Amino acid sequence: MARLNLIFLGPPGAGKGTQAEIIAKRFHLTKLSTGDILRDAVRQGTPLGRQAQQYMEKGELVPDDVMLGLVEETLDTVKEGFILDGFPRTLQQAKGLEKILKDRQITIHHVILLQVPDEEIIRRLSARRVCPQCKATYNLLSHPPKEDERCDHCGVPLITRPDDKPETIQKRLDVYRKQTAPLIEYYKERGLLREVSGTGNPEAVTYAIEQVLRNDHPQNG
Ligand code: AP5
Ligand code: MG
Repeated sequence: MARLNLIFLGPPGAGKGTQAEIIAKRFHLTKLSTGDILRDAVRQGTPLGRQAQQYMEKGELVPDDVMLGLVEETLDTVKEGFILDGFPRTLQQAKGLEKILKDRQITIHHVILLQVPDEEIIRRLSARRVCPQCKATYNLLSHPPKEDERCDHCGVPLITRPDDKPETIQKRLDVYRKQTAPLIEYYKERGLLREVSGTGNPEAVTYAIEQVLRNDHPQNG
């Protein structure tokens, strides 16, 4: 089976992490979520974490050179197809990624763009809760845990991400519009952009992404 390499692009709260988790399992891909890697580094207090924390707390982007170094290092450990969730996020990162992949003769097959209106994003992120242990993501409105604010798998109390405060959500939306949205055009020009509506329930969104992957990649069916 041909190796499948994907990028998940979209505003904060579009469901990139939720869908990347499901699609990675179904298509046997490695999910590389830069946000998760950075949050782990912050929790462990590594030099990367100490550097990243100040940006993440404010809803700003971690500098491009740091992110490119991190992704290059991580990609070298991946042996199968992958999903990049939350990377690239600036034109500089996209160009840097192109070079990293070219040097390794790796191609991206699809850039899946999840589109969700701002009001829905704010509603989703305000209700998001995450497990600090296994990183499972819940939503008090659309996907609540079975027992009051505890992880279904680990039983530990769920937490709210520090950057899911209303003012930081707004900042992340602004940053997305200014710094990340130009990537839509960038990948459209390269014939890689696949737009998927992120507004249905998670199963409907997964189905729409699978349609894209199966139509263009029948060998993965
Ligand atoms: P990151 O962790 O990537 O955050 P983000 O892009 O803001 O996206 P989110 O994780 O908030 O949303 P998501 O699209 O994954 O949605 P989710 O599936 O969780 O980055 C965090 C920070 O790290 C950045 O601000 C930056 O500082 C730094 N960083 C990371 N990458 C970087 C990079 N490349 N360069 C520089 N800095 C970087 O879903 C959201 C909620 O909605 C959940 O509760 C979920 O259960 C629910 N939900 C999901 N799908 C649906 C649905 N279909 N219907 C209803 N509810 C749904
Ligand atoms: Mg995410």
